[in-house]
Amino acid sequence: MSGQLTVGTISAFLIYATQFARPINDMASVLTQLQSAAAAAERIFALIDAEPESNDKNLPDLAAKGGRIDFKDVYFSYDKKTPLIENLNLTAMPGRTVAIVGPTGSGKTTIVNLLMRFYDVDSGVITIDSQPEESVNRDSLRRHFAMVLQDTWLFCGTVHENIAYARPDASDDEIIAAAKSAHADSFIRRLPKGYDTIIAEDGGNLSQGQKQLLTIARAMLADPEILILDEATSSVDTVTEQRIQRAFLKMLENRTAFVIAHRLSTIRSADLILVMKNGNIIEQGTHEELLSAHGFYYELYNA
Ligand SMILES: Nc1ncnc2c1ncn2[C@@H]1O[C@H](COP(=O)(O)OP(=O)(O)O)[C@@H](O)[C@H]1O
Ligand SMILES: [Mg+2]
Repeated sequence: MSGQLTVGTISAFLIYATQFARPINDMASVLTQLQSAAAAAERIFALIDAEPESNDKNLPDLAAKGGRIDFKDVYFSYDKKTPLIENLNLTAMPGRTVAIVGPTGSGKTTIVNLLMRFYDVDSGVITIDSQPEESVNRDSLRRHFAMVLQDTWLFCGTVHENIAYARPDASDDEIIAAAKSAHADSFIRRLPKGYDTIIAEDGGNLSQGQKQLLTIARAMLADPEILILDEATSSVDTVTEQRIQRAFLKMLENRTAFVIAHRLSTIRSADLILVMKNGNIIEQGTHEELLSAHGFYYELYNA
């Protein structure tokens, strides 16, 4: 405006300024690409380095009779630098219920992971009816278990198909019987198309409690020797919990069961209660024994 610079000079200045900045911008964007490449490489190498599961196709099937489970001197850690489970010994008698309680991160789910052989123990043995888990194939081992977990897993398909997932050859009558013993039959019949109602991918058209009842029906249909309930009722309300509780009690009859629960009401009636802390069993006994011991369980119960 004061006439000291011509239009030509100022345009030239602006063009040079942009040209000067461009490589700096380019370098910045290459840098972000390099960073995501490094993150991707980390995952690729983790996969390449992962040790494959040992081939167990030629190992015999598990012949469970009753379902007595023993952990003997078991050591395990996810990453070798931080020990988690050390020298764990426990016995679950056939047909009895073992409850595991303890703060979050104390290793309750880890025990289940080891039992199902999602991870192998570092040392020690887990036996089922005195057969070491490593001496049988994983498929047959897992067929003897049913699990009901906190997060329900349903797929897009009919109610019927979702329950039958446990045993695809089950007859209609068997599926309805399983739903009845899970206290799920009455709500299923009230659905628009009963057993043929399509469930959305995540069970979106059902309540949390209803989804849980379906997974219980699934476990009932599978009818295995050993049952695992891992915080199965922690995401439902108290009324639903009481309904599910009846289904659970029925399912626990004559089965070896591991029950992990936040609410101590659920585990009071267990035959054996294990109290875990930092990967160790620090107390064990029945509800009454643990209360009269005035230990960690006593504190937990009163809290
Ligand atoms: N897949 C995993 N990989 C590495 N660490 C894990 C894994 N699962 C659990 N952990 C760690 O192991 C410890 C015990 O976890 P977990 O058995 O799930 O506890 P709980 O079920 O009692 O809440 C925690 O410190 C947790 O961070
Ligand atoms: Mg857990």
